[in-house]
Amino acid sequence: MGTAERDKVYVVQTVSRIVQRCLLMATDPGDLVLDPTCGSGTTAAVAEQWGRRWITVDTSRVALALARARVMGARYPYYLLADSPEGQQKEGEVTRTIPSSQPTYGKIRHGFVYERVPHITLKSIANNREIDIIWEKWQPNLEPIRKQINEALGKDWHEWQIPREYATEDLEEVRDVVEAVGFLHEWWKARVARQKEIDASIAAGADFEFLYDKPYDDKKKVRVAGPFTVESLSPHRTLGMDENDELVDPLQPRNGVGPKEGQDFVGMILENLQSAGVQQAHKEDRIVFTSGPTGWPGHYVCAEARYDESGLSKRAAIFIGPEFGTVSRPDLVAAAREAGDAGFDVLIACAFNYDAHSSEFDKLGRVPVLKARMNADLHMGDELKNTGKGNLFVIFGEPDIDVIYTADDEIQIKVKGVDVFDPKSGEVRSDGADGIACWFIDTDYNEESFFVRHAYFLGQNDPYKSLKTSLKAEINEEAWSTLNSDVSRPFNKPESGRIAVKVINHLGDEVMKVFRV
Ligand SMILES: C[S@@+](CC[C@H](N)C(=O)[O-])C[C@H]1O[C@@H](n2cnc3c(N)ncnc32)[C@H](O)[C@@H]1O
Repeated sequence: MGTAERDKVYVVQTVSRIVQRCLLMATDPGDLVLDPTCGSGTTAAVAEQWGRRWITVDTSRVALALARARVMGARYPYYLLADSPEGQQKEGEVTRTIPSSQPTYGKIRHGFVYERVPHITLKSIANNREIDIIWEKWQPNLEPIRKQINEALGKDWHEWQIPREYATEDLEEVRDVVEAVGFLHEWWKARVARQKEIDASIAAGADFEFLYDKPYDDKKKVRVAGPFTVESLSPHRTLGMDENDELVDPLQPRNGVGPKEGQDFVGMILENLQSAGVQQAHKEDRIVFTSGPTGWPGHYVCAEARYDESGLSKRAAIFIGPEFGTVSRPDLVAAAREAGDAGFDVLIACAFNYDAHSSEFDKLGRVPVLKARMNADLHMGDELKNTGKGNLFVIFGEPDIDVIYTADDEIQIKVKGVDVFDPKSGEVRSDGADGIACWFIDTDYNEESFFVRHAYFLGQNDPYKSLKTSLKAEINEEAWSTLNSDVSRPFNKPESGRIAVKVINHLGDEVMKVFRV
């Protein structure tokens, strides 16, 4: 058997059937499955389908992007949960017993309702008390027909002597036979029905084997993936030993391979910053440096640069976050303080990620703090030279959000837009909701992972049509219209006391803001 899928999205994609077989043999619904070599996410997709929780890991961003799209875009069958009213109903039907009336909690750990095959043994036939009852029940149907057959053909057949078919070459007998064949047909129909009822009774009373790969499903329901998060951790930088037992720093070039002589991560970022400038939602708001960036010996501020604002030259301090990891609000505050003390007009921070609390921090005293998100392509370092410099540094401001408390003591969120920095005037202004592609709410944020509990998709590029295409299904327009909105559906106050709102623009940049409610 081959181990590669035919319609592949990944060159080394594993056949789902193989993963499925292993997973069904080794786990139960609700178990946790770990695949440390995610690839296109076959294990995650199969686990999602079969109600197993999953964690998957890969070193490649391409693999993770493929896996995320694969799990999110798929439709899964809706299997009947044993711990549900429909499940109890089905179980009753299959075992020919009165459905359980125990309260149900929808716990997946109780498994699904599965098809099963009986083990028919002599014991299961001999001990079955229903057979006699069924037999008696059918006698009043069968006996009169047997009599009619015997009368038509002048026989004295017992039940076990009645043939399936009867023919004659005697011309005188033909009329009786034609009549008798009709009776024969009728008798066998009833006889087979009686046997089926007896067989079903034996099967229901016999021991059986569950077919764990054949749960009953509700064909009228479509299931999509449950919530999951994609996390990236700062990989630990490993140090190696060379042939002389000396520590090897991977950042130092060896035999001409590695970063340029004297150029570290920060040097590479500054070089790209100089040629790419800082992009914002609108092209005209791009910050183009008139000089620099050149090195500046601060503790946080590592470079300075100049750009023009309304004809005046502004002096910007540059702070660069770690190569792997997230910039937190205290880092930004310290960098802004250093910039302010040194007389800079503005702080431009560049980082791959900012923590949630950074989004609210946009000014320290007179010094505006611009947070530019660095494109992950910058990880490619020198390779980038061949691929053009699109949006390498993008400022995506704080979302402009209203928290509305309803009369029923519920909460609604309205997103009004995203703040943008106008480099020409130095002002921060609110951009309308047009710049937002979609926005999500975690209505009970645990300060660790953002769970999308509400999702809203705003106007551009007909998201309704895209969703219809990827789900391959008709979507209830009324339900959809509640998702195509800049105002959320009302929800209860969170137990954690916190909610988080994530806003994503059309370039895929995202910003998250946490609210205490
Ligand atoms: C053969 S593929 C897995 C294919 C996957 N089963 C599927 O169906 O698509 C192996 C994957 O492991 C990843 N990988 C290689 N070394 C790794 C490591 N040290 N840690 C995590 N993932 C790694 C590769 O990037 C590649 O995506």
